[in-house]
Order: sequence, then C-alpha cells, then structure tokens
Amino acid sequence: MGKILVTGGTGFIGSHTCVELLENGYEIVIVDNLSNSKEAAVGRIEKISGKEVTFVKADICDYDALSEVFGKNDIDAVVHFAGLKAVGESVRKPLEYYTNNIHGTLVLLRVMRENGCKKIVFSSSATVYGMNNKAPYTEDMPTSATNPYGYTKVMIEQILRDVCVSDSEFSAVALRYFNPIGAHSSGLIGEDPNGIPNNLVPYIAQVASGRLEQLSVYGDDYDTPDGTGVRDYIHVMDLASGHVCAIDYAMKHNGFEPVNLGTGKGSSVLEVVAAYEKACGKPIPKRITERRAGDIAICYADASKAKEIFGWEAKSGIDEMCADSWNFTKMNPNGIN
Ligand SMILES: NC(=O)c1ccc[n+]([C@@H]2O[C@H](COP(=O)([O-])OP(=O)(O)OC[C@H]3O[C@@H](n4cnc5c(N)ncnc54)[C@H](O)[C@@H]3O)[C@@H](O)[C@H]2O)c1
Repeated sequence: MGKILVTGGTGFIGSHTCVELLENGYEIVIVDNLSNSKEAAVGRIEKISGKEVTFVKADICDYDALSEVFGKNDIDAVVHFAGLKAVGESVRKPLEYYTNNIHGTLVLLRVMRENGCKKIVFSSSATVYGMNNKAPYTEDMPTSATNPYGYTKVMIEQILRDVCVSDSEFSAVALRYFNPIGAHSSGLIGEDPNGIPNNLVPYIAQVASGRLEQLSVYGDDYDTPDGTGVRDYIHVMDLASGHVCAIDYAMKHNGFEPVNLGTGKGSSVLEVVAAYEKACGKPIPKRITERRAGDIAICYADASKAKEIFGWEAKSGIDEMCADSWNFTKMNPNGIN
C-alpha cells in the first residue's frame, strides 16, 4: 500500500489515525516530540493493530532529524498532525505557535521536496471559517482567523495552496476538523491532554472521574435552542477513517483540496452534558459562567464534499462518542502511561 509518515502520531487524533492506517494496510513511521503526548501511545497502537510501528522522537523543526527519517524510509505520503493547538495559549505565546506550527511545516515541506515526496494530508480546522461566515460551513467560504492558532491554520493552508501551484504533481488535502471527541472502542487510546483540558468533553470526563470539581458552561444566552453554544462533534474514529480516504484521494489526484470532516449536525453544550451523564451514570456538576471571548454561537459543517469526493460520512452519534470517551477515562484514570 505504501509507507506514511505521521507527524504528531502519538497525539489524540494521530494515534487513532495510525490504527486506521495500519488496519488499511499502510506502514507507518511516527515522528513526535512528545510535547503533548506520551511514548506509551506507540505500544497501545501496536497492541490494537497487532502491527509494528516505527517511532522517532523528534521535532518537526529539526531539519536533520526529518532528513534522516526520509533517508531511512521510503515515504510515500505524509499525514501532518504535529502542532500546538490551544487557542488561549496561542494568544499568550504567539511566537511559539508561529514557530512550531508554521516553521515546522516549512521544514517538513522542504524535506519532502528534497526527497521527492509530493503528497500531504494536513490537520486544518473549522476555525478557519472565522467569525464572519454562517453555519453550515462550505469549503468555498473565505477563511480568516481571530487568534494566532487560527492564523497558523489559515497560513499553512495558503502555503500548501502555493506549493501546489508551483508543482503540478503536488497533492495537499487540508482536512478541516470540526469537534473531535470519543476514543477507540478498546479504551486503549483516547484524549489525554496535559494539564487542565481546554475542550468540553475532556473537561466533562475529568469532572465525571472526580479529577475536576465542576464544569463551567460559558454562556447560556446565545441565540440557540437552549442558549448554550452548538458545535459539530465527530467521533475520532470517524475522523481517522476520513484520513485514510484523504490519503487514497491524494495518491490519485493533484492540487490543493480543503475538505470538511464533520457530521453536519450540531449539539449544544447541555445536550453533550446530558449524553455524558447517560454514559457515566452520574450527574455532572456544572455552573453557568460568562461567555468566553472569541466563541461563536453555532458551528457545524456542510459535510457533503467529503461524501462526494471521498465517499465518506460520519457514522457515530453523540451517545456513542460519550460512551467511548467514558470507557477510555475509566480504563485510564491516570491517562496513557
Ligand atoms: N482536537 C481538536 O479539537 C482539533 C480540532 C481541529 C484541528 N486540530 C488539529 O489536529 C492536529 C492534532 O490535534 P490533536 O487533538 O491530536 O492534538 P495533540 O496535541 O493530541 O497531538 C498533536 C501532537 O503533535 C505533537 N507535536 C506538537 N508539536 C510538535 C513538533 N514541533 N514536532 C513534533 N511533534 C509535535 C504533540 O506532542 C502531539 O503528540 C493539530 O494540528 C490540531 O491543531 C485539532
């Protein structure tokens, strides 16, 4: 099938995608600097898939380390997850975010070019739709950002677009993820962020397991059915299978292609809390607080392009996503160690 370099492959979405790539016959090489993940994820990926994985602890900004990886392995395509992803932190540390995400991607693209590798699938985000578009978001809408993290995604998409213009054999698929949650059904891998979680479901999970006291719901006066924010939650395994489709697509088509990966349906914060309470069988203590700066009321995908060009659509609903998240949380009270 081919050998895929997975940057950020020990992280949340990367680890699930590695499992899916292995199960679809690809060989993989993971490069991760472990800034937000643990090496133990490699063993978990191997356990689930029954296959061996090559892991290299390295930073994507390290030209020599990446050159060595390409020198030792015949890489057919890259799935590029490696990046910093906390919006609030990006406002406090813009230089770190631009260096890690943009400089890292430029080093990767340079090493790819020097080694004749012309296929990349990039982790973009629904954040590129900014504040001025209205859901459902379609890929042809103008992109913009409101914080350094978002700008790294907008800028990397532009860089990939330009590389495709300069080389007609180059292929780049920018997958715009909506809100990935859930975990592999084995409970061996899942979302295990360092520190206090930024996202709703990992936060709820830590309240359910007693690590955090209560959930803060940021605003209940939005123009939505129950007043809380609405997002398009997607099971991380659905997201993972979307990457296999994207790799298959990139192998056969050239040029730049942005593609939404979402379910096309929105759920409110209170609906997610109710689904999680059902999954874990206990109430989630919560309090309503002020709106959080930069949050929008409603965000969900128009998921028709992925269906049209990949033949892909999300299968899992919010109940299954919460059940799998809780299963992972219960099985790993101290995270992935
Ligand atoms: N989780 C989400 O809600 C979400 C939504 C949209 C887009 N994304 C994007 O998807 C990608 C993966 O996200 P995730 O949720 O799996 O995050 P994650 O933090 O779990 O995974 C990212 C991985 O990249 C590694 N990494 C970071 N910088 C690196 C560097 N310079 N060199 C090598 N490795 C490096 C980290 O150690 C981590 O293992 C990110 O690019 C993120 O911006 C995530």
